[in-house]
Amino acid sequence: MDHLSLSRPDDWHVHLRDGDAMAAIVGATARQFGRALVMPNLQPPITRVQEALSYRARILAGLNQEHPFNPLMALYLTEGTPKEEIARVAETPEVIGFKLYPQGATTHSEAGIRSLEALDPLLEALAHYQVPLMVHGEVTDSDIDIFDREALFIERYLEPMSQRFRSLRIVLEHISTREGVEFVERATGPIAGTLTAHHLLLNRNAMLVGGIQPHHYCLPVLKRETHRQALLAAATKGHPRFFLGTDSAPHLRSHKESSCGCAGCYTAHHAIELYATAFDQVGALDQLEGFASHHGADFYGLPRNTETIRLQRVPTEIPDALPFGEETVIPFMAGQTLPWTMTEAE
Ligand code: NCD
Ligand code: ZN
Repeated sequence: MDHLSLSRPDDWHVHLRDGDAMAAIVGATARQFGRALVMPNLQPPITRVQEALSYRARILAGLNQEHPFNPLMALYLTEGTPKEEIARVAETPEVIGFKLYPQGATTHSEAGIRSLEALDPLLEALAHYQVPLMVHGEVTDSDIDIFDREALFIERYLEPMSQRFRSLRIVLEHISTREGVEFVERATGPIAGTLTAHHLLLNRNAMLVGGIQPHHYCLPVLKRETHRQALLAAATKGHPRFFLGTDSAPHLRSHKESSCGCAGCYTAHHAIELYATAFDQVGALDQLEGFASHHGADFYGLPRNTETIRLQRVPTEIPDALPFGEETVIPFMAGQTLPWTMTEAE
């Protein structure tokens, strides 16, 4: 297959930052995607509908791409989230859910949840209003090995939570393990998962062999090859509860290439080409449209995009660096060539 057309895809998990940093990167997401679910981990985090709506206006203000782009917002769930705010989200089409960060799990998660047990009243309200909860699924206990943190979170918290609140809509974000895939597959309730391009393309060797590769460090951290295989199988089998979420998370080059490098891969720049490359590797390009353009919209109860994009087997060269605020960001697979190029439909 040398070209394919698909409905314009959506990115159900992206970090767009704010200010000059946002201005430098938001166009990359808007160019490819019809919608994006924008994560609220700014500093301070976006915890209220009003803040999310003004953040959304800032996102749209700098855009001038040809096709419509609809940023959808998630609020940052805290222990102090009032139930009224959950009701407000249910009435606000531009804000479609809450993001749960365990405190300390990742970049800008200081305001996250300390005690998941104490969350039940809020979970009950989320289930009542049918407002989805997007979950960063990792335990944060210092004695738990970083490669085990997702599997343990599922066993200790997510599985029991989904049993206690059977109608709660849950998205396990950026699944990085076989256990994460299995959690979504065996769920009988309204439970889905997003998969990133970097977790589909790389295992942990890409981060640790031949010298430490800070631009491949993200959270959840890349896992061993057997997990990558499980993720790729989940993405490409046409299962309606797995869909595209890049978790594209740009950082200044100097913050990545440091004695304490921060977590995040910047994939928005060539997101759909990266996914196409992963699907092509297992001969599953025919499954890309469902994963990238249909399943997410269906899960969130939104219409599928009606526009079309084209992917052609024409090489794309990924630049070595891109402008980002006062510095640069190193895109994922910088300096390499991908076999696919996206164009607008003719
Ligand atoms: C994200 C970021 O930088 O905001 N980093 C990451 O490694 N994915 C935070 C997150 O989604 O965990
Ligand atoms: Zn993220």
